[in-house]
Amino acid sequence: MKSRDRLRIAIQKSGRLSGPARDLLERAGLAFRESRDRLFCFGESLPIDLLLVRDDDIPGLIADGVCDLGVVGNNVLEEQAVAREQQGLPAAYAAVRQLGFGGCRLSVAVPQEWEWNGPADLAGMRVATSYPQLLGRWLRENAVDAEVVELSGSVEIAPRLGKAEAICDLVSSGATLLANQLREAAIIFESEAVLVAPAMACSAYATASW
Ligand code: PRP
Ligand code: ZN
Repeated sequence: MKSRDRLRIAIQKSGRLSGPARDLLERAGLAFRESRDRLFCFGESLPIDLLLVRDDDIPGLIADGVCDLGVVGNNVLEEQAVAREQQGLPAAYAAVRQLGFGGCRLSVAVPQEWEWNGPADLAGMRVATSYPQLLGRWLRENAVDAEVVELSGSVEIAPRLGKAEAICDLVSSGATLLANQLREAAIIFESEAVLVAPAMACSAYATASW
C-alpha cells in the first residue's frame, strides 16, 4: 500500500451521524477548510483531512486503504462484514471503539394488526430490507424460510405497496414505523456509531491510550 503523509478520516456527508461526527472531530481539535464540492476538506490544524461520503461507502474506503479511519454505524459495518465473509474475503476492517452516539436497532417490523408469536410467523413471507445479510443471518439462525426483498430505501412503505408482508429496518425513535402503521416485532441487531480502522491497524489502536 502506498504511504501518505496525511491521514484521512471518512464520515457521513449528510444523515443521522454527520452532525455528531463533525462535533467529535471538532472536540478533538481538528479544523477543516471546506472545499467547494464539500467532499474533501483539508485539515488546517493537523495533517488530517476529512472525506464526506455516503455512509455505505465508508467500509469499502477503509478496506481499499483510501481512508485511515472512519465514523460509521456498526449496522453498516456488520452488514458489509457479513457480505465479505460470504464471498470468502478476509476481514479488512474492524471497529476500534464505540462512540456513544447514533444509537439505533435493526428490527423486524410487521403491520400493526398482526399478532406476533415469533420469528416462525415470517415463514413463507416476503421481508423488505436494506440489510439483506444481517436479515438473512437472523433468518438462518432462527431456521425461518422467508424471502428477503432487497430495497435501497423507503423500506417502510413496502408492505403498503404490496412488495412485502414485513420489513427489517433501522429503528431509532420508532416514529417512522408508527407513521407507516407498523410495529417492531423483533430486534435483530443493536447498533451505534463506531470508529473503524483497517484490520491491520486495529491492534495498534487497541493498545493506544484513549
Ligand atoms: C433510518 C430508517 C428509518 C428511520 C427510523 O434511516 O431507515 O427510515 O431511520 O428512525 P425513527 O425510528 O427515529 O423514525 P436513516 O436515515 O437513519 O438511515 P439510512 O438513510 O442510512 O438508511
Ligand atoms: Zn445509508
